[in-house]
Amino acid sequence: MSVSAVIPGSFDPVTMGHLDIIGRAATRFDAVVVAVLTNPGKDPLFSVDERVDLVARATAHLPNVSIDTFEGLLVHFCHARDIRVICKGLRAVSDFEYELQMAQMNQRMGDVETLFLTTSPEYSYLSSSLIKEIARFGGPLEGVVPDLVRDALHARFGPPPDR
Ligand code: PNS
Repeated sequence: MSVSAVIPGSFDPVTMGHLDIIGRAATRFDAVVVAVLTNPGKDPLFSVDERVDLVARATAHLPNVSIDTFEGLLVHFCHARDIRVICKGLRAVSDFEYELQMAQMNQRMGDVETLFLTTSPEYSYLSSSLIKEIARFGGPLEGVVPDLVRDALHARFGPPPDR
């Protein structure tokens, strides 16, 4: 039996934390679909096409990972592709309450189970929001996003000043 999982998110932009989860999931599932939310509530920095392109290039070395987009309910996306597993990273206790709520609701609405991977400790403090703030004010991005995302952030905000 082949088992696929969906890894959903805004990916605005994809971080090393996301890539850690995607890479590890790719070793445990036959296929992983990264599902990029097209209409996140917050005004995204990158368009959906840009976010998809960054994820696609950052995961190009993983043959069983594909990228797709979705809007509306995640369980509808899962059903349309006959996928019954959502895989997510858990960074800290602060993630837990909201993730638990969504996992239980998705299980109830769609018989879709959420399996959590604990984020690798070196990435447990990363978030796309923090990274955008650091990029906006010219802070260092080495090691927290792949080089291609760093370049995209520099193109958006301008290169960091010489210090
Ligand atoms: O990267 P994010 O923004 O933290 O990801 C959140 C995401 C996209 C996983 C979550 O908002 C989501 O699943 N949205 C789709 C809408 C939906 O299904 N809502 C009901 C959840 S129970």
